[in-house]
Amino acid sequence: MVFGFLKETAMKKESLVVGLDIGTTRICAVVAEVPCVHRQEKRWLFNKIRRTDGLQDDKHNSSGSGINIIGVGKASSRGIKKGIITNIESTVDSIVEAVQAAESAAGVDIKSVHISISGVHIGCLSSHGVIGVKEKEIGSREVAHVIEAAKAVAIPFDREILHVLPSGFIVDGQNGITDPRGMAGVRLETNVKIITGAAASTQNLIRSCQKAGLDVTGVVFQPLASAAAVLTQDEKDLGVAVIDIGGGTTDMALYYDGSLCHAAVLAVGGNNFTNDVAVGLRTPAQEAERIKKKHGCVMISCIKGDEEIDVGFADGKLFRNIPRRHLVEILQPRAEELFGFLRDEIRAGGFQKIINSGVVLTGGSAAMEGMATMAENILELPVRLGRPAGFEGADDMKDDPSFAAAAGLAMYCAEESMSVPGNNGGMKARVKGWYEEAFKIFS
Ligand SMILES: Nc1ncnc2c1ncn2[C@@H]1O[C@H](COP(=O)(O)OP(=O)(O)OP(=O)(O)O)[C@@H](O)[C@H]1O
Ligand SMILES: [Mg+2]
Repeated sequence: MVFGFLKETAMKKESLVVGLDIGTTRICAVVAEVPCVHRQEKRWLFNKIRRTDGLQDDKHNSSGSGINIIGVGKASSRGIKKGIITNIESTVDSIVEAVQAAESAAGVDIKSVHISISGVHIGCLSSHGVIGVKEKEIGSREVAHVIEAAKAVAIPFDREILHVLPSGFIVDGQNGITDPRGMAGVRLETNVKIITGAAASTQNLIRSCQKAGLDVTGVVFQPLASAAAVLTQDEKDLGVAVIDIGGGTTDMALYYDGSLCHAAVLAVGGNNFTNDVAVGLRTPAQEAERIKKKHGCVMISCIKGDEEIDVGFADGKLFRNIPRRHLVEILQPRAEELFGFLRDEIRAGGFQKIINSGVVLTGGSAAMEGMATMAENILELPVRLGRPAGFEGADDMKDDPSFAAAAGLAMYCAEESMSVPGNNGGMKARVKGWYEEAFKIFS
């Protein structure tokens, strides 16, 4: 009865969960041990996972959550462009490679996984639900009903709901209520954010996993997973943006007052930087990727003196020296464009005033020199690099912003494994899932 289930020990002291981050450039499988807890203990546990300390350094010691990463497997991603599957067979091969690597690292058989999803097909819309309370006391059933009512919006048949995330409840006109259970009232309302995705894209991801011999127990919008690994509860309460700059896409999720208030995906990522370098320096894509990772920088002001770098010619054998400045002159405009798009997205929704804690960058491309400074200059907000935390194990990856989505996925999965017994994908289970999701964000 677990998500991303592998095995349960006879003593049921812990279960195992698996997050499978299916990215455009890399697939990463994370196996984590999660303690089996009684229902009363869950809120305590997730208060710990969701950390209220607000201190980044403390987060690295906050593994009191009990989540222990015991195996990580990675593989280059083939068959995916900008988050969309373009070749199922290649995707299946990459998934199998990553999962097998995680199986040998953890010493277990992987049967099912929670997967991440991204792509420009993802949409975010607002809705409102209202119900009458017959029993005069609000219980779990009423909460599930009001969330179901909020979900009753016209969604095209070719789209699917991925998440229903309430941003608080209103009881008899009194708003700002985070958990209405046990309260007296006759009218219960909620405002929700609904994350939707193209049904075909979601189904193709699920089908690829099934062809790789895996059951999919959950599909999580990528920046929500990244947020689980890098944000503190304080940041979510005060207002924060998590921006995951991957290989194919840049995903943004904004939080305020403890809940999601906006999400967006841009079709720009690290591959665009690589292509620019390949064209600008007339070098093969592989060499452009090497140069970008080794010498890349997006701020010309960071370049000291007459630094020079080696660039391979198209035949890959001959090298020539060029000033590093030339590389930065190619990368900087792309970064300016990217953060310009993000600034426009934030301003269009009037969100700049609520991002009081600033911006947290994740994703492999966030590691490029100058990205945080460039983001600060263009977004006019404080920016930090998101380092995944809140778990034991995988110590060598705690400084890697590209690991945030995969680690966060395992944490997301762990949370659901303890809160949604027996999610079999049926409507009842899905409503229960949305209901549990509602309380996850408030706990
Ligand atoms: N040190 C570095 N400097 C510059 N770019 C880097 C560095 N390390 C990784 N990258 C870039 O990060 C990208 C991969 O990041 P990540 O693993 O987060 O992407 P992904 O999850 O595969 O893609 P997506 O999330 O867009 O589907 C690649 O484009 C890679 O070139
Ligand atoms: Mg990614």
